[in-house]
Amino acid sequence: MLIDFHSHFLPQIDDGSRNIEESVGILDIMAENDTDIIIATPHFYCTEQSVEKFLERRDHAYERLKPHLKEGHPRIGFGAEVLYDHSLVNYDKLPDLCIRGTKWLLLEMPYTDLDDKILDGVEAITNRGDLKVLVAHIERYLNFTSMKRLDELMSMDLIGQINAKSLTSFKTKRRCMKLIEKGYVQVLGSDYHRIGRGDVTVNHGFEIITKNKKFDDFAEYAEENGMKILKDESLSSIR
Ligand SMILES: [Fe+2]
Repeated sequence: MLIDFHSHFLPQIDDGSRNIEESVGILDIMAENDTDIIIATPHFYCTEQSVEKFLERRDHAYERLKPHLKEGHPRIGFGAEVLYDHSLVNYDKLPDLCIRGTKWLLLEMPYTDLDDKILDGVEAITNRGDLKVLVAHIERYLNFTSMKRLDELMSMDLIGQINAKSLTSFKTKRRCMKLIEKGYVQVLGSDYHRIGRGDVTVNHGFEIITKNKKFDDFAEYAEENGMKILKDESLSSIR
């Protein structure tokens, strides 16, 4: 069961798919690459739109795509990639952005040094009690912040996702392997935006990781983690 926890294939809702044809094309690629379930996670910026409007737009994008879906396409789940903002700590509607049917929220960190204020804010979000945090593409923040800061983030009650594409270049692969070794990575995502951008499906990510003997069981436990997330199991049940 291959699950892709991070994608932007819904048409014309963010900087992802530009039209229905492209969305179908992405889902064709997903099907060819054995993706069983894909979670649609359009960008959500709390300073730019309301949760109601976002959900309305997400539903609308899916309704437009629905007549074009094919039998072999992966099953579609719904979530959001929510960019961190200090105001999210007390944001009433935040649970509505979780992966549908769960209390798991895909949280994107700001592209800046993860200072104390941000880390305290994330901790406060994890302590809200009405949701659980999955941090998006944790490898990317090392372009902006130190490993020490990332260590602090990942020591909180939350889990991490990396992008399959990051495993395909030498520098970012080394970084990803290190994060896996530290136990920070629980699931993968494609973060698929557009065709021709070089985005990579999760099966390739799993292949690259499990080639390394140290991590030859990664695909199995990531799959188990994925199923647990979709069943809304507790953070402590996830490896
Ligand atoms: Fe994304």
